[in-house]
Amino acid sequence: MTTPGIRPLVAGNWKMNGQRADGAALARAVVERARGAAAHACELLVCPPATLIAPVADALAGSAVALGGQDCHAAEKGAHTGDIAAPMLKDLGCRYVIVGHSERRTNHGEADAAVRAKAMAARAAGLVAIVCVGETLAERDAGRTIEVVGRQLAGSVPDGATASDCVVAYEPVWAIGTGRTPTSEEIAEVHARLRALLAERFPGGRFRLLYGGSVNAKNAATILPIANVDGALVGGASLVAEDFWTIAQAATRAAT
Ligand code: 13P
Repeated sequence: MTTPGIRPLVAGNWKMNGQRADGAALARAVVERARGAAAHACELLVCPPATLIAPVADALAGSAVALGGQDCHAAEKGAHTGDIAAPMLKDLGCRYVIVGHSERRTNHGEADAAVRAKAMAARAAGLVAIVCVGETLAERDAGRTIEVVGRQLAGSVPDGATASDCVVAYEPVWAIGTGRTPTSEEIAEVHARLRALLAERFPGGRFRLLYGGSVNAKNAATILPIANVDGALVGGASLVAEDFWTIAQAATRAAT
């Protein structure tokens, strides 16, 4: 259930999916569903692959649906072949950028310090960083979940972060793209811990805590009402406008 005073955020991480035509069509389909007052109770965000940010920005123009990147470099500009700087995302109309996603941590060896540097670059560019944390299955089985996410949070969220430039997403690695999710109690336990750690380090901050990992149109109504879940970071289901919208409606219901 969304924390009182916090507007839920439902974010779609399209990952490495889509060509120009279907990306724009998907964005238009989301905009179409989001029209109308009820939609505004919940903030909607789509994070397309870098190649689709410009056409998706066009498709979202004039709508309340926000745009975000999936990663950014820690530097403002320079000799970093293939990378994208936070100010470039801002220039294209992005409001958010995901940093420290487990696929980046695993596939690109990004450790907490690199994630923190990216979150700082995002803030400097005027973007909101969605900082991802989450344990592997081996870590969960070893009873180390709380320790691991606590360490990732401490290392990845920069000093001086505020609720207006930082969102935290809990994404258990073993739940991503697998159809498996933690129990409601397990999600509640991690989110309560993240809330407590953030409150200790940033007194008064009203950070949004998203859950991610196999959120879909069916389980959203169970996951979104969990205490300290202020929205969702959605992968596969965000590629189907109707499913994404169903999740957004579940978030809206959980907030009201
Ligand atoms: P799935 O929703 O496909 O499990 O992906 C979750 C995710 O990694 C979102 O960032």
